[in-house]
Amino acid sequence: MTSGTLPARYRSAASTSGSTSPLGRWVVYGPGRYARAVRDGDCRVAVVVSPNNPTSVAVPAGDLRRLCAAVAPAVVLLDESFVDFAAPPAGSLLPDLAEHPNLVVVKSVSKVYGVGGLRLGFSATADPALARWISDRLPIWNVNGLAEEFVRLLPHFRADFHASCARVRAETRELAGLLAELPGVHVVPPDANFVLLRLPPGLPADRAADELFAARAILTKDCGGKTMPDGNRWLRVASRTAAENWAVVDGLREVLGRATAPE
Ligand SMILES: Cc1ncc(COP(=O)(O)O)c(C=O)c1O
Repeated sequence: MTSGTLPARYRSAASTSGSTSPLGRWVVYGPGRYARAVRDGDCRVAVVVSPNNPTSVAVPAGDLRRLCAAVAPAVVLLDESFVDFAAPPAGSLLPDLAEHPNLVVVKSVSKVYGVGGLRLGFSATADPALARWISDRLPIWNVNGLAEEFVRLLPHFRADFHASCARVRAETRELAGLLAELPGVHVVPPDANFVLLRLPPGLPADRAADELFAARAILTKDCGGKTMPDGNRWLRVASRTAAENWAVVDGLREVLGRATAPE
């Protein structure tokens, strides 16, 4: 959400709102409330990241369609970089562009195809003036040759891609289940290929991440540096192969055991 007044409004809402979220004290804007905030704040752009990072939570596609209709003519800037990992009712709004000319979908291709080095992404809108406004601001060689070739090859691997996303979805769900069984750990049900979890008090996330790396060479992301309440209680764990997922669960069990063991 962008506007001069909205960040302040968000802070004030965040400090007074009761908890409606599986995440604890965080404020959850349902589509109706978010649309009202966009209109009341006179915002020109409403930003939604679905699934979000680091929460791994997606917004149902129907809610996003309703949001587009409710805030028009404000633009809905929708980041769908992780959407291929999400199951219904989440899903891409690319097929809905014509119906919502105020919708701009942006996507980093690096996530779902695992090609961060290609620096490839796109934006899509049915509004020709907005599309021109965006392309006028891009350098002419904004996609490198290797990335272009990758895009040309992609259609040949559509079936493999969908199979791979389904596998990632199943393994991430399994990882979330295993992590949720660890003592004192609260897991946010994931829609992307990573899991956000809250650690018990007494084990800061940066310490957990350091210990996992030192003991097992496993990289996780502590959320201490992020603008979220109690960031250093939250750890983001990527889902990888089943064996690697078991290793991260085992490692975290050990770290938790040390943190809660009597001195
Ligand atoms: C939701 C989301 N969109 C876009 C990006 C940008 O990704 P990249 O720089 O790999 O293209 C990120 C990076 O983490 C992200 O989390």
